[in-house]
Amino acid sequence: MGVEVAVHDLTKSFGKQTIWGDVTLTLPPGEVSVMLGPSGTGKSVFLKTLIGLLKPDKGSIMIRDVDVARCSEAKLYETRKLFGVLFQDGALFGSMNLFDNIAFPLREHTKKSEKEIHDIVSEKLQLVGLEGTDKKLPGEISGGMRKRAGLARALVLEPEIILFDEPDSGLDPVRVAYLNQLIIDLNAVTDATFLIVTHDIGTARTVPDNLGMLFRRELVMFGPREVLLTSEEPVVKQFLNGRREGPIGMSEEKDSAQVAAELASLDGAPERHPGAAPKGGIGGGVPPQIQPSAGLPERKAAGRRQQRVMDMMHTLPQSAQKAIQELLDQEHQEELDAREASGGISSGLADRDTQTIPIGKG
Ligand SMILES: Nc1ncnc2c1ncn2[C@@H]1O[C@H](COP(=O)(O)OP(=O)(O)OP(=O)(O)O)[C@@H](O)[C@H]1O
Ligand SMILES: [Mg+2]
Repeated sequence: MGVEVAVHDLTKSFGKQTIWGDVTLTLPPGEVSVMLGPSGTGKSVFLKTLIGLLKPDKGSIMIRDVDVARCSEAKLYETRKLFGVLFQDGALFGSMNLFDNIAFPLREHTKKSEKEIHDIVSEKLQLVGLEGTDKKLPGEISGGMRKRAGLARALVLEPEIILFDEPDSGLDPVRVAYLNQLIIDLNAVTDATFLIVTHDIGTARTVPDNLGMLFRRELVMFGPREVLLTSEEPVVKQFLNGRREGPIGMSEEKDSAQVAAELASLDGAPERHPGAAPKGGIGGGVPPQIQPSAGLPERKAAGRRQQRVMDMMHTLPQSAQKAIQELLDQEHQEELDAREASGGISSGLADRDTQTIPIGKG
């Protein structure tokens, strides 16, 4: 089962510049969480702090009784082995072919034979739909393929916590859809704890169990996705709807020419015209979460999460409670329908023990 990451009162600054302060959140074991926030709010800094690459000014990050914020180098080295990280730029070595890139952590951190390494690398290449490309250099493949190679490398040590820094940036909508399915499928197979940084509203709305948002040096909110997706908090609402009206303005390190062009295109159009909505951002409410592909086990975290959300239900805003109840009713109805369609016998997908994930090419 995935590992819990408990962040308490975390503050990070560079010199006089505070990036964010007093961040408190818990990534529940095995669940998928997404962190949102305008450009430059310190999302990448947050991920790097979680793995101990950057030291916070104060606060704690508890992972299996180790406080990553203040432990010894030796403990940090051990704890880091729990992590798989997909950096924002893929971070592949340009002069190494894909095989050697993906094999790198195994050669660095394990005593596995070349035969074992070959088997693991081949399995991971297949997992991300890159079989047959092992001899290629990173410069010879597309951006989307580089992301998936980075993902394969992040997975070779069988991590229990996986951090993704904008895995979907620069990908076309179809590739994003494949990638999102891959993330859910990986979660179903590994039960690892996932944290994804993304700007893609469609991803934020359909992939995670939990959503969080960083803005103006603080964590505005973190909780079950239903809470943020129904929130009236202006920053959260503006971001999840991709609107210009709201507290998020030009000052958030956005390219000013780009912002000016965006604003001009919206002038005199208070209601969004077709096509101007962000990807997946159309329609309010809480869309159903992406489910694992057919043939895969159910996500173990889904059951745990349901229990967790039920336990905290009375503390949630009314709108979130309503959304959770509606989704539950919908799921229940679908289950009944499926049972009826199969003549009263449940499909049994959940019991099947499958270890490989069929992934579409792209
Ligand atoms: N090593 C560093 N030294 C000094 N300042 C840094 C360092 N790393 C990041 N920063 C600053 O921290 C702030 C947050 O950077 P970060 O890369 O985390 O933003 P982000 O939220 O990931 O943005 P984006 O969405 O564009 O990727 C920026 O102002 C950046 O200049
Ligand atoms: Mg970043």
